[in-house]
Parts: sequence; C-alpha cells; structure tokens
Amino acid sequence: MTHIVDGITLGALVLVRDKMMAQQAAGRKVYRLEVGDTDFAVPAGIQQAITEAMRQGKTHYPPSTGLPQLRQAMLDKMRRENQLVVKDEEHVMVTIGGMHGLYMAFAALLSPGDEVILPDPMWSEIAELIKRPGGVPVPVALRSEQGFLYDPEAIAAAITPRTKAIYINSPQNPVGAVVSEAAQRQIARLAVKNGLWVVSDEAYEHVIFDGRRHFSIGSIPEIAARTITAYTFSKTYAMTGLRLGYMAVNDDLIVDRCRKLLRLTTNGVPSITQWGGLAALTGPDTAVREMVSELAARRDLFFSGLKTIRVFEPFEPEGAFYVWCRIADSWEGYQGKRDSWAMTDYLIDQGGVGSSPGIAFGPSGEGCVRFAFTLDRPTLARAIEVMQGLFG
Ligand SMILES: Cc1ncc(COP(=O)(O)O)c(C=O)c1O
Repeated sequence: MTHIVDGITLGALVLVRDKMMAQQAAGRKVYRLEVGDTDFAVPAGIQQAITEAMRQGKTHYPPSTGLPQLRQAMLDKMRRENQLVVKDEEHVMVTIGGMHGLYMAFAALLSPGDEVILPDPMWSEIAELIKRPGGVPVPVALRSEQGFLYDPEAIAAAITPRTKAIYINSPQNPVGAVVSEAAQRQIARLAVKNGLWVVSDEAYEHVIFDGRRHFSIGSIPEIAARTITAYTFSKTYAMTGLRLGYMAVNDDLIVDRCRKLLRLTTNGVPSITQWGGLAALTGPDTAVREMVSELAARRDLFFSGLKTIRVFEPFEPEGAFYVWCRIADSWEGYQGKRDSWAMTDYLIDQGGVGSSPGIAFGPSGEGCVRFAFTLDRPTLARAIEVMQGLFG
C-alpha cells in the first residue's frame, strides 16, 4: 500500500520556478512572471515593529495560537472590514501564512473519502491540501464564456452524499475573477440546505480593482457557524517571506482540532513576525492603498500589452495579480506540441519569460497560461517587448 503523502505532488509550479532559477543563476536575463510575490518592500511601520521586537528581546515562545494582542487586532479587523461573524478572539488563530491555515482547515474538517468542491482552474495547492487528510477534490469548471463564474448551479450539481465542504477563493488565483456577493449568497444557501461547510480563502481580499468591494461569505449569519475563513499577510503587505496568516473558526470542535494541529505542527508562529502583524493591522493603510493602485497600473499595462500579442487571448483580472491567457489556435507550437507546457517551455527557452502552464491549475486550465504582474512596470513592458519579438 502506498503512503497517503505519495499521492501528493510537489506541483508543476515548482518545476517552472526551479527552471527559471537555474537560468537566473547561470546569468541569463529572465522575467520572473511565474511567481505570485510582488516586488514591494514591507511597509516601514511593520519593519520598525519587527526590529523593535527583536531589540526588546521578544524572541521567546509565543502562545501556540498566537499573541493575545494580535488575535484581538485580527478579530477587530475581521469584524470591522469583513463584517465577519466571529464569536471572540478564542476563535481566531494565528498561522504560518495562508497555506498553514488552509492546511489546518482541511485537516480538521475532513475524514478519508470526504469530498470538497473547488473551482477549476485553481491554485494547485488547494487540491493537494484536500488530498492530505484523505479528502477528494471535486472540481467545478469555470468557463470563460460565463466570465469564470463560480456557478452555484454547477456547484449544486456536484454535491453528493460524500460532500463535506465548498471551497471559495475570491479574488481568485489564477483567473483573477471576483465571486460576486449574489453568487456567494447562493453558495451559502446551498451549504446551509445541504449541511455543508464553507472554506473561504481570502488571500487576495485587498488586491481588488476598479472599485469592486471584497465580500466575505462568513459575514452571512446563516452560514457563519460552518465557515472557516483564512487570511494571509503575504499579499496585502508583501510579507510572503515572513509567513504570517490567521483563520477564523466559530465551531468549538474544529477550533479544538486546529489548536492541537497548531501545537503539533509549528507550536506557534515566529514571535517577531507577529509583532510586525500587529503593526500592520493597527497602523495606517497608506502603503496598502498605494500598492493596490500601483498593481492596477501594472495590470493595465500588462493586460493591454498581452492583447497585442497574436498568440494570446488574455482575460482582464478583477483582482489578484495574475493574467490568465488562452493560447490562440493560431499558435504553431513548440517541439511538436501545442499544450500549456509547450507554451511555458517555449517562453522560458526562447525569451527567458516565466509563466505557469494552465494544466497545473486543473484539467480546465489546459490550453491556457498564467502570468503574474508582480514586477515593476519597466520590467513588465520589457517582457511584453520580448514576447512581441518572439511571436512577430
Ligand atoms: C489562492 C491562494 N490562497 C492562499 C495562498 C497562501 O499564501 P501564503 O501561504 O503565502 O499566505 C496563496 C498563495 O499564493 C494563494 O494563491
């Protein structure tokens, strides 16, 4: 019998990253458009709080569920900004980034054979996180002709007696779609009617464009008791390397399981990072607003550039920092192949341009590639020129 972990992959995205890093190390000019990590600095107030915590010797074991001050600040933020229904700070836990919160959510919820409905294409880690405790990912295709709607009717059709939860991610990685409040309300009704859980991954809550408002499904009172919401500091504060996130869970049994998992996995989150997190939540939001407006400018530049390249049919993102692109039928292919891996390899080999093959995000992703517009505008403009040169 194989071990359950043997059924999990390290993911195609890792393969691309390794290839790009090898080329970079060899001194080649590369454009790292495959990574979801912006080039912004951590805002100054957060940096100061981290340095100060270090100087003051706040470097000893923190409580494994997180510093009380930070959990209170997280609770206040979720109530104020997300209108989330959360019982109290005991139902908030500090995690090592969003990934760790999602890991615990699925580990605490699922028994082997339990099904979780998720969008397809989707950031590949989600299906693997569901598989980790023996769960079964059930993909629901997002269709470009429907504007990548996470369609409540399609979700309803995917529900079986083994369905345990519906996973939602808005804004969504990789397609950049925002799940509307109306669709989320329908999904909540479905979950209530069928006795399901909702796992809401709000990693990109602040990276949202054109005046759209982020909506949290856990703000709907009828489903709040059965919702697990995961947040991260990675995207909002460019803190990817500092590994900080949090989750809100109202159900006492799930909280109890998560506490045990926290204790046995990380036994707490690095203390100085948590002091930085407190500064982020209680300080001014100027840096975040500037970052989002710069990201909107990068999106405009990069999206309009991609539209000029004959082999791409890009979709305009409403949030997050990725452009999802269909590969046009007119593309000649590379080394006898025309799939999403062929395009990814072609862009790296011929142009030093990183992207992610659509198939890495699920079966519906084949025929597409994902670009991240996380680098500065001159670099993005140069990458567009390189691709224009490649495709004539
Ligand atoms: C949809 C989604 N959720 C969660 C995360 C978790 O990020 P982190 O573990 O850095 O907080 C990511 C990272 O790319 C993501 O794309």
